[in-house]
This record gives sequence, structure tokens and C-alpha cells, in this order.
Amino acid sequence: ETIPSFIFTIFGATGDLAKRKLFPALYSLYREKQLRCNFAVIGVGRKNIDSFEFRTWVKNSIAEFSRLSLCAGEEWEQFAARFSYISFDVKDTAKYAALRSLVEAKEQENKLSGNRMFYLAIAPQLFGTVATNLKESGLTNTKGWKRLIIEKPFGHDYTSAEALNEEIKRSFAEEEIYRIDHYLGKEMVQNIQVIRFANSMFEPLWNNRHIDNIQITASETVGVEDRASYYDRAGALRDMVQNHMLQMVMMVCMEPPSRLKTEAIRDEKVKVMRALRRFSEEEVDRHIVRGQYIAGTIGGKSFLGYREEPDVNPASTTETFVAAKLYIDNFRWADVPIYIRTGKRMPEKLTEIVIQFKELPKRLYFNKNNDLMPNLLIFRIQPNEGITLLLNAKKQGTDSQIIPIGMEYCNDCEAASPEAYESLLHDAILGDSTFFTRWDEVALAWKFIDPIRCAWDKDPCSLAEYEVGTWGPVEAHELLQKDGKRWWTGSDHRERKTI
Ligand code: BG6
Repeated sequence: ETIPSFIFTIFGATGDLAKRKLFPALYSLYREKQLRCNFAVIGVGRKNIDSFEFRTWVKNSIAEFSRLSLCAGEEWEQFAARFSYISFDVKDTAKYAALRSLVEAKEQENKLSGNRMFYLAIAPQLFGTVATNLKESGLTNTKGWKRLIIEKPFGHDYTSAEALNEEIKRSFAEEEIYRIDHYLGKEMVQNIQVIRFANSMFEPLWNNRHIDNIQITASETVGVEDRASYYDRAGALRDMVQNHMLQMVMMVCMEPPSRLKTEAIRDEKVKVMRALRRFSEEEVDRHIVRGQYIAGTIGGKSFLGYREEPDVNPASTTETFVAAKLYIDNFRWADVPIYIRTGKRMPEKLTEIVIQFKELPKRLYFNKNNDLMPNLLIFRIQPNEGITLLLNAKKQGTDSQIIPIGMEYCNDCEAASPEAYESLLHDAILGDSTFFTRWDEVALAWKFIDPIRCAWDKDPCSLAEYEVGTWGPVEAHELLQKDGKRWWTGSDHRERKTI
């Protein structure tokens, strides 16, 4: 598809997200020829620099974070010439007139057609203010299209999310708002619907008659890093579950859409959220485990406990780990537990979705542990993107020694996959919001999260500890053991494969 000409205004252009993700993504799109000379970028930031210094900033960010090597000479100059910078405090309404003049000047200079994309890579409490100022200064009044790309967090509970949405809606219509959940930009997350709906062999089995349980793990080795001021107030439930984890649940559990149109897909995702069982405050403890890391080691390296981290309240009860047992109360998924877990400072950086199929009605074969591995279908979201299907087979040269074998597909062995932000920016430029979140998805996700938070706020004692470098508190294992099940994710099934 041909990319239309557009001007891209980035608020927070000297911030971390722009540096790590946005400039490298734009650069890859440019180098891989999806963007030509049909765009201009305006950085808005608080740093007092000029456009020349800004271009150096952009260059350094690409040199450090791009998956592609930096081009030199004229090629670089052509790319860099598209970038300009303006410094002002985004709360200062009067300054938007200068931004508007700059946008109009650049549109004229580059013969752009008036399409305007605004990216808010700034503190969430400023989202509403900027959206309002864009409208009031006339910046949203253009002969082309206008789009607002907005980062998470989208509110910190349902009420604040709704207030924010109302505020933004005064300047941008729902279909002009692109709410980022960068997990939806990941190759293998996008591949879930293709694997499910482009093959005939999975869909007949994709239900409570054949699937025993689903497990979704997103583990990280990093800790709170330098984000304590945000994270200590958010916690893993808001930071990961409300968005990324529930998005993966929707992708795995949605009904086939009637066609591959944005709203048809998002309608199906929303139906999953509507059927997701909400827990009353009394039920929370039985279904959800939360933990906080205490000092320990990963790969021989020692790390502090969460409460000892810089800028974290030493008495903090913020969870850095969540495991939960979810249910989707519809015909397809009734009684199939969906176990999710996510946490910081765990043994590996890994995101995997495991579909565990039901046992056979009768076992004829056993492995050497007098056991039989269940069939597992594993979506490896990251790293080592791909799919594994675990089956049982006869060990070569033996009569009936049964071993689990893995059929593997590797998605990024031949070439590195594009970064999530590349594919999301590309989609936003083309006006495809399929892999962005619609307001009702966000709203329903908060409605699921809020009672859990309420229950926890009343009962700080339910916070369990886990040592850095472990797969979370024992309670997270007990959650499955009580159901006669176990977590397969992580190194578990990889070890099993070699018995
Ligand atoms: C972000 C969270 O949304 O996702 C971070 O705020 C987390 O806390 C990150 O580290 C994980 O993303 P990825 O792509 O590294 O798995």
C-alpha cells in the first residue's frame, strides 16, 4: 500500500520512548522504503535545543537503538532534514500557535497534504491537556486526516480512564484515537489469529471439549529500573495485566471474526472481555496471587529486593508479580482455566502462551516416569519467536519408550522481526487501527481490574514474597497444584522434551 504524505508531531521528543523506540522505528520504515520523502517530523520537548541539535539527538538514538546500521552522507542528510524541533511546556496554551505555524510551514515546504499525526510520548497526566490544546490552537483543523497516538497508561482505574477518554474525545473521534498496546505490535501476537484462522486443524479443537487449560506467561529479568515513581504506584496488575496480558487472552480466546476488518476483529475481542468473569472482592484471594521480589540472584548476579530499590517506598506493598486463574464464561470456554502470570526479576525474559490439550480417554502408552506428556501448543512470543507443538512419539530404536517430541517453527531465524513500534507506526500512518485498543476494550479491562485492586488495598497482608530469580511465590504454583495442574511455561517443558 502506498503511504500517504503526513506530518508527525511527537510530544516528548527528547524522552526515553522517542529515543529507544520511535526514531529507530521511523528510521527502519524509511530505510526499508515504506516511507519516502513524503513526511516531516516535528519534535516537541522541554529540552532547550534547536533543530540541528535535535537531529544529532535523533542520530544518536538511531545509532544506539536501531536494528539497522546508520546510513552515512547524503542518505542520512536527506532523512535528517525531515526533522525539526520546537521547545515549549505543553501546558502553555499560548505556545501552540508557534507549533501550528511550524507545522504549516513544514507542510508547505515539503508539499505535504495536510495529514497530521500526533504522538503523545509524555506523562499520562498531560494527555488530556495536549489533546485540548491541539484542538483549541486549530492544529486539528486540517484538510487532511488527523490522528492521535497515545501511550499507556490509559488511566489508573475505570473512572480516571473514562474521564481521560471524555477529555480526548472532545478533540479526536474514536476512530482517530490510536491507543498503543505494544504487545499487539509483536509479530507472534499478530500471528495468533493467523495460526488460528488460516488453518483448519486447530479451530475444531479450540474449545472446552479439547483444551484442558491455557497458560500465559510474561516474565522479565529486569526490575523496576529507574521507573519507581510510576511503577510503585502502578504495580504489575495495572502495568502488565490490564493491557498486555488481557490483550493476549483476547487474541487466543476470541471467536473467528466474520471478516478481517478492524471493527469486526475488535468486536470479537470485546466479547471476550464481556464474558471474562469478574471477581468479587471475596473471590480475589482464591483466584489471584500477588508477589513482591526480595533480594536474590539471576545467573549468579545478585540483585536488591524491590523495597531496597532507589525511590521505592521501603514499606511498599506494590506487587511486582501477579498470577491469576481466569474464566471466560461462554459456551466455548466454560470451565477452562486460563492461568496468567507476569513479574519482574524472574529467571528469564520470556513471553509464551501454552495451550494444554486434554488427556486421552484412556492411556495405552506411558513414558519412563509412568506418565504421559499432554499435548501442548506453544506460541513463543519472545524471545525465539515461533511455535512449538509437543507430541508423544516412540523413541527411535526402542519398542515402546515414549518421548515427547517438539515440532518447531521459528519466526525470526532467517531475519530479525521488525520491532513492534515499526509495525504499529506503519499501521497508524495507513489508518489501520486493528492492532490498537478500542475504548470499550480498555474500559472493560479496567472494570475487571478495579475490584481486584480494591480487595488488595483493603488487605495488604495478601502480598507474598518471592526471591529474585524464581518463578514467583509458592502460592503461584499452588494455584495450579490445587487444580491438579502445573505451569508448563519457562524451562519446564523444554526440560521435559529431552527425557
Ligand atoms: C511495558 C511495561 O508496557 O511493557 C514495562 O510498562 C514492561 O514494565 C514492558 O517492562 C515489557 O515489554 P516487552 O516488550 O519488553 O515485553
